[in-house]
Amino acid sequence: MRIVVLGPPGAGKGTQAEMLERELGLKHLSTGDILREEVRKGTELGKRAEKYMKSGELVPDDLIVEMMEKEISKYDNFVLDGFPRNLKQAEALDKMCRIDKVILLEVPDEVILERLSLRRSCPKCNRVYHLKYNPPKENEICDYCGAKLYQRDDDKEEVIKKRLEVYRKETEPIAKFYREKGILVKVNGSKSIEEIFSDIKGVLGNGD
Ligand code: AP5
Repeated sequence: MRIVVLGPPGAGKGTQAEMLERELGLKHLSTGDILREEVRKGTELGKRAEKYMKSGELVPDDLIVEMMEKEISKYDNFVLDGFPRNLKQAEALDKMCRIDKVILLEVPDEVILERLSLRRSCPKCNRVYHLKYNPPKENEICDYCGAKLYQRDDDKEEVIKKRLEVYRKETEPIAKFYREKGILVKVNGSKSIEEIFSDIKGVLGNGD
């Protein structure tokens, strides 16, 4: 099964994709996580991507498409989180492989701001927490690998606003591309993490 999870920043794409990986065995491929790892390692790609990520802009398509071509070729079943991000990337993905379903998580802006301001991430295993809705058992420590959690650089209010603007302009229009292919499904992303996951499994034919 090959799934794309679409949605604005903070919609819960990473949270749901991680649950799909754990429960359905789909490889979670997150462009954001891959890029942040490249930045941490100080690779050529990381150096080129960093300034775009810090300001909330999209990293250039040629870098992203080449990076994702390599990743996607390694797996048969996966869930894509953060890719594609514009029409050019959607067309490039179309040439790489067949996609079965595109889940669009719909979440209003005021919910997004609250989610991102209290998000904490694990730098080691990339698990995502929320200090109010999905807190770690021990303060600021990852439940799974014990690393100290951190707040992402792009989770500042002015960068969040920029990311939302880029999402509306660049990413939202690709919903139409997938609607026309008959594989787009909208899911209400304002519910609890477990309710959304159950709705997604229902859509994928894996409901309880
Ligand atoms: P990326 O890392 O992909 O960021 P994003 O798309 O802005 O999405 P987020 O990771 O912020 O949010 P999410 O939807 O995964 O939500 P999460 O599950 O964490 O991209 C970062 C940057 O990299 C981009 O700005 C760009 O520069 C670059 N980039 C990446 N891909 C690119 C591409 N294809 N092309 C070009 N550039 C690219 O949840 C958020 C918070 O809410 C968490 O705290 C979570 O615990 C909590 N939460 C989740 N669900 C719920 C719920 N139902 N109820 C309550 N809280 C919840």
